[in-house]
Amino acid sequence: EGLRLFDAGFVNTAVARSRITEIDGAKGILRYRGYPIEQLSEKSTFLEVAYLLIYGELPSKNQFDDFEYEVMHHTYVHVKLAELEQSFQYDAHPMGMFIATMAAASTFDPSGNPALAGSDIYTKDKKLRNKQIFRILGKVTTIAAMAYRHRIGRPANPPQQGLSYTENFLYMMDHLSEPGFRPHPVLARALDVLFILHADHELNCSTAAMRHIGSSLVDPYSAVAGAAAALYGPLHGGANEAVVRMLESIGTVDKIPAFIESVKRREKKLMGFGHRIYTSYDPRATIIRKLAYDVFEVVGTEPLIEVAQALEQVALTDEYFTSRKLYPNVDFYSGLIYKAMGFPLDYFPVLFAIPRVAGWLAHWSEAMDEPNAKIWRPRQIYCGEARRDYVPIEHRD
Ligand code: CMC
Repeated sequence: EGLRLFDAGFVNTAVARSRITEIDGAKGILRYRGYPIEQLSEKSTFLEVAYLLIYGELPSKNQFDDFEYEVMHHTYVHVKLAELEQSFQYDAHPMGMFIATMAAASTFDPSGNPALAGSDIYTKDKKLRNKQIFRILGKVTTIAAMAYRHRIGRPANPPQQGLSYTENFLYMMDHLSEPGFRPHPVLARALDVLFILHADHELNCSTAAMRHIGSSLVDPYSAVAGAAAALYGPLHGGANEAVVRMLESIGTVDKIPAFIESVKRREKKLMGFGHRIYTSYDPRATIIRKLAYDVFEVVGTEPLIEVAQALEQVALTDEYFTSRKLYPNVDFYSGLIYKAMGFPLDYFPVLFAIPRVAGWLAHWSEAMDEPNAKIWRPRQIYCGEARRDYVPIEHRD
């Protein structure tokens, strides 16, 4: 056996070639398919960005109309899938419902199961791959909205054609509605921008999970469910929820110094700070901080923003954080916007998962096109016992 490199947490190991997202962490640069995130968040829409991520180019008008038609017409889910989601305990975490329902969605489409249909169906059949992309992008908002409706004890609303991707999601939630159930345009746009900012971030924990699971050539519903499970964790997509809980626990600006001291004593983490790739300000956090004020103008100011800004100022000038190059990440302000919009705290990771599905599918599709793809199978350094003989239970101490 040759030399084995030890790289716990893949800190320095590249495991894929990708043309999707470029990050320069030192300079705070993020680009999807070469386009700066600042331009996309200002000028594009989430569904157009999803197309860009998955197919590599911005769509022509016709390409976009076809794509939108396909995705929006796949927003309906089988009645049994809806029943399944409604069978959860009333206070089930929405992310748990989302993951389980997404995994169950694969059982409604046995033709798309490589174990039954042949392991090369997705590597060879691009048409089928596209069909699954439309289905998953379409159904993800419905599954997410059903989790919310179940949680608040209300019946699910069927999808509505003629609305944008994000508007339809808000319509199904029946959240932030104007008369006629039309979502408020400023809030729908703000959520669409948040969706653009969360759509992809190269090989983060959940996207790496998507590629890892996908490398076994399982169906993409199951792989998305697995990726969503990775996103659920507090160090990843759960951080937006954790930031708001942290700000609530701090409560007022005068409690910040004591909180910072507890972080330095390593009793707590400053949630929403730090990133494996960024050693400077996360460009998404800059955009989100501005966006927060557009939302506050409509729904009223979220009082915790004062604590967040003061906390950021203290951390950005404190040696503990500056020496470790810890800056606010995407989650530091996004949770405050979701809170101001009235979403329940435990729904925040779902709001992260919906747009990240576009990135997961882009990476999955790229991996299916890789000519020399291999199943992912990392190595380990065995540190356990050497060979020893079995001792019958009556002879053990
Ligand atoms: N608060 C306090 N100390 C921190 C933090 C933090 N948020 N983040 C990193 N550090 C310290 C860490 O203790 C370590 O110190 P030392 O070298 O003295 O042991 C040093 O900074 C390097 O950190 P690390 O843990 O080796 O960095 P990592 O790349 O393994 O972890 C991270 C990255 C994002 C998991 C981590 O920064 C973290 O836990 N942040 C808080 C959770 C969070 O906001 N997550 C969202 C990430 S962005 C969106 C997403 O991916 O979902």
